[in-house]
Amino acid sequence: MAAAPQALYWLGKDTLRVSAALFAENRRRLCRALSGKDGVVPQSLVLLQGGEQKQRYCTDTDLLFRQESFFHWAFGTTEPDCFGAIDVDSGKSILFVPKLPESYATWMGEIFPKEHFKDKYAVDEVQYTCDIADVLSNRRPAVLLTLRGQNTDSGSICREASFEGISRFKVNNTLLHPVIVECRLTKTDMELEVLRYTNRISSEAHKMIMKNVKPGQKEYEMESLFQHYCYTKGGMRHTSYTCICGTGNNSSVLHYGHAGAPNEKTIMEGDMCLFDMGGEYYCYSSDITCSFPANGKFTADQRAVYEAVLKSSRTVMAAIKPGVRWTDMHRLADRIHLEELVKIGILRGSVEDMLKVHMGSVFMPHGLGHLLGIDVHDVGGYPEGVERIDEPGLKSLRMGRPVQERMVLTVEPGIYFINHLLDQALANPAQNCFLDSQVLARFRGFGGVRIEDDIAVTADGIELLTCVPRTVEDIEAFMASPEKAFSPVVTGDKL
Ligand code: GLY
Ligand code: MN
Ligand code: MN
Repeated sequence: MAAAPQALYWLGKDTLRVSAALFAENRRRLCRALSGKDGVVPQSLVLLQGGEQKQRYCTDTDLLFRQESFFHWAFGTTEPDCFGAIDVDSGKSILFVPKLPESYATWMGEIFPKEHFKDKYAVDEVQYTCDIADVLSNRRPAVLLTLRGQNTDSGSICREASFEGISRFKVNNTLLHPVIVECRLTKTDMELEVLRYTNRISSEAHKMIMKNVKPGQKEYEMESLFQHYCYTKGGMRHTSYTCICGTGNNSSVLHYGHAGAPNEKTIMEGDMCLFDMGGEYYCYSSDITCSFPANGKFTADQRAVYEAVLKSSRTVMAAIKPGVRWTDMHRLADRIHLEELVKIGILRGSVEDMLKVHMGSVFMPHGLGHLLGIDVHDVGGYPEGVERIDEPGLKSLRMGRPVQERMVLTVEPGIYFINHLLDQALANPAQNCFLDSQVLARFRGFGGVRIEDDIAVTADGIELLTCVPRTVEDIEAFMASPEKAFSPVVTGDKL
């Protein structure tokens, strides 16, 4: 048998092989982008600090480590407590790894030499972090470019690299952030391959859940099944975010599943399920939502709301191509929702007039979708000069810039019956004139429908990465067809 191609990351069996070339290409792209940038002088050195291993509060219990996203993008290093430097002129890279104490060999396992990390990560040089000040000063960099900037989704400032002795160097912490964010905005072929994989495995996991869900089960059982499938079949130890398994009225809670509402309800006959879950492989995300009735058969109202959302999802996807404004796509989804809610009888009157008073955001208070990559809400949505539109709904949109080829985005329209938003609209004379309160009353407790797919933007349209049953007919047929329930298959046949 021919030897398998060298992979930096591979968890055996049918999991994806990822080459170190992915990160080498990212570093090359970064150097190219920096070289042409005003203010970047010769002999500049990029300096990134990786994530640190942390413990649970004041205990010695390790939290499960996940690499910091910018560091992962540049180096692909799975170990904590590293630094990385990149010479902008030559593209040469140095990885700094911790010099581990002897006790590490007892408690944690083998201590590898520097050569091991040089081969593994295909960097030009490996040094110990304790030597960083001396190693860097021997290079006589004109300036260290460190990473400081705001994440436009969380508002948090990323942690800038720092080490003892850094005061000996000239440091610039403003140039790097916008440039590296712009590099992360569009995905390379190798990154797209990983994102196709995360979507394939997560889509299969969602399908397995659709086959196995039954009234009487707990929501958290679905979370557990999803995680188990993604890990056992896809090698995904992490999910991209906390699993959202809302059923019944909980499906109207946009980010249900958190510690205060931990997917703990019993799934009831007649409930809509809204399962928003994505597996993460080697720090690359997926973000998929499937909405369907727990018993596999849509009622007339469930079908009507579901098909309204499906119409906006498919209309938006057909319109997406490089150059379109993402804000226009959000407005398009709103318009279709309102038109369809008129047909259902929940709304009446002119859709144009409803748009003027932001009726769309009563039913879809979140944004249409967001960038996806190493972070589930990936960076780059609002570069300097692009401002959020301060209107209900649109102010929650995580990307304000035009669509570009090689962006990966979620398209996730939804219609929700959120009691406090409905109450506000009913109390608002500008909005309540459009609402038929009697018909609306029938939908109290319905919950919501979200249809969330991940797409890659191509030269003239999109590639749909997610693959799950989407029409009412496909969902009903899929959930009704007999198929063995998922059980973990432990085999030794493929190593
Ligand atoms: N799963 C979070 C989101 O859809 O953005
Ligand atoms: Mn999303
Ligand atoms: Mn989601």
